Amino acid sequence: MSTLLQIEQINAFYGSAHILHDLSLHVNAGERVALIGRNGVGKTTVVNTILGLAAMRGGQIHLGDYALRKPRPYIAAQHGVVVVPQGRRIVANLTVEENLQLGAAVGRKGHWTVPEVYKLFPILGERSHASGTALSGGQQQMLAVGRALMANPSLILLDEPTEGLAPVIVDQLADIFNLVASQGTALLLIEQNMSLVVRVAERYCAMAKGSVVAQGLVENSKDSLHQLETHVMV
Ligand SMILES: Nc1ncnc2c1ncn2[C@@H]1O[C@H](COP(=O)(O)OP(=O)(O)O)[C@@H](O)[C@H]1O
Ligand SMILES: [Mg+2]
Repeated sequence: MSTLLQIEQINAFYGSAHILHDLSLHVNAGERVALIGRNGVGKTTVVNTILGLAAMRGGQIHLGDYALRKPRPYIAAQHGVVVVPQGRRIVANLTVEENLQLGAAVGRKGHWTVPEVYKLFPILGERSHASGTALSGGQQQMLAVGRALMANPSLILLDEPTEGLAPVIVDQLADIFNLVASQGTALLLIEQNMSLVVRVAERYCAMAKGSVVAQGLVENSKDSLHQLETHVMV
């Protein structure tokens, strides 16, 4: 099985602040992995290190066969790894369609085009000329996912995609994540909502204080969501 993302023993810093400590994590082709852990443990810093927004000292990251020595956002996208950032970061003075095209600008060619994204999210097609930030929170999250798909990634990193959204919207997003995954895109779902983790992920990695401290199959923990919640509290 091919590995799309292999993080081995990385240490990451913001300035002199040492945030990630010998952290290892991998995602195989087509897999759905959840990365869980309470606020401040360093989940977003994992993403930021892959993008070059936190400094990596020591350890290795591979994107497929490619050894990532100087992380940059466009390098990750060129190697099939795209981020849906925490807080969504829709560009305010661009339309829905222009926001989607931004995703295509950095990525690869493939199945996903503007019409294909509109088939997945009809509401985005209906609002294609609206300002991206005129959309509701749930619609902005769809736009953020659509923008990621436009880069035709093999792996999408979703950083707390349901933060602040109503349960009915979270349900819709769960279906969409499963649909996207069923079409072959691997997911790394950073999430604190355990009911979403159980619906979407097959495997989980739990972080505490900048390291992965527990991992396992979601199926084995399904009856005991509580157990997962306990890991979050480590
Ligand atoms: N730009 C930054 N500069 C310095 N410290 C930061 C920065 N961003 C986050 N941190 C710190 O790094 C730690 C991990 O943050 P983060 O990765 O955002 O955690 P999580 O996503 O798990 O909530 C926290 O202690 C946070 O305060
Ligand atoms: Mg975060």
